[in-house]
Amino acid sequence: MTSQLKDRFGRVHNYLRISVTDRCNLRCMYCMPEEGVPFAEPSSLLTYDEIESVVKTAASMGITKLRITGGEPLVRPGLDSLISRLAAIPGIHDIALTTNGMLLAAQAEALKQAGLTRVNISLDTLDPARFRLIARRGDLKRVFEGIEAAGRVGFDPIKLNCVLLKGVNEDEIPAFLKLAYEQPLHVRFIEYMPIGHADDNWRKHYLPLSAVLEKARAEGFDMERREDVRGNGPSEDWQLTGGKGSFGLIHPVSDQFCSRCNRLRLTADGHLQPCLYWMDELNVRPAAGDEQALRKLFLKALDLKPENHEMAAKLADQAQSHNPTERRMSQIGG
Ligand code: GTP
Ligand code: 5AD
Ligand code: SF4
Repeated sequence: MTSQLKDRFGRVHNYLRISVTDRCNLRCMYCMPEEGVPFAEPSSLLTYDEIESVVKTAASMGITKLRITGGEPLVRPGLDSLISRLAAIPGIHDIALTTNGMLLAAQAEALKQAGLTRVNISLDTLDPARFRLIARRGDLKRVFEGIEAAGRVGFDPIKLNCVLLKGVNEDEIPAFLKLAYEQPLHVRFIEYMPIGHADDNWRKHYLPLSAVLEKARAEGFDMERREDVRGNGPSEDWQLTGGKGSFGLIHPVSDQFCSRCNRLRLTADGHLQPCLYWMDELNVRPAAGDEQALRKLFLKALDLKPENHEMAAKLADQAQSHNPTERRMSQIGG
């Protein structure tokens, strides 16, 4: 089927990120304040029926890949039942999950059975004490149990998402590279993005990912670009020569990838968001179940989608402190 989801800049969209909750069992320092944030009322979340109806229309227009996000998606009850409903929609070929891993060991088998194809697991440190510093709650051991369970039930590839933070975990770049060398895991380093967070925090801890390639070379790793890592997102992937795994770089700030953007977002409270770093959004709730009305909203979202974001300008120019999205990362789903 030819995609109908082409935007004003010729970008074809086949990837929909669906946030199923803004709640989370962690409080990662780059995402939420320690005391948390006011969460949406459960009644304001899209129901599984509504999500299914939106995805049916999206699939009929050219969406083939879905990613379930949060907050932490596994805190929403019965997620496996949603996955199996989405997996049955004609045209949907890939359903992935982004999770912090805390609840994964208990649910991995049911998710796999339901039709989930891949998992990306957040892992910002390999040190238990530092985990408490960054995530403020939870337990690194449970995340490792989640990673192990993901491997056992056969998710492939397993990607680990590491947000690099200056002065916090930058000293662990070699340890993460070693992990990717020794285990069949795909470690992605991510630049800290200035979304929904106080400027000072971001300016203090932002680190460009050129640091990773410099460190890899200094540690004596040989590597070459890889184009065959299964995925739909913006990661630039590298194979470590002789290693079992690989690594990826997601660098929206230092080297933006907007020209190859293929994705739209659906927030947990039912708003279509054309770009992660953008305010205009469209409420799908009144249109759920109405195919024609939903189609119009998708086309409108594409029409609103900007050519690129301005995170780099924000870094360069202190005066540009306006954050165009009022939503936090946990409300958008990353
Ligand atoms: P794959 O399908 O495995 O490639 O997943 P993905 O990288 O698209 O998804 P994931 O949820 O693991 O996202 C990893 C990081 O990339 C997160 O920090 C996201 O916020 C970031 N990311 C994904 N898409 C975009 C985007 O369009 N713009 C920006 N700035 N960041 C993005
Ligand atoms: N900058 C970069 N990545 C972030 N994530 C959450 N907040 C930020 C931020 N400000 C990551 C999480 C998770 C993914 C969905 O987004 O670590 O891996
Ligand atoms: Fe939760 Fe993810 Fe935000 Fe961490 S980054 S607090 S795991 S939503």
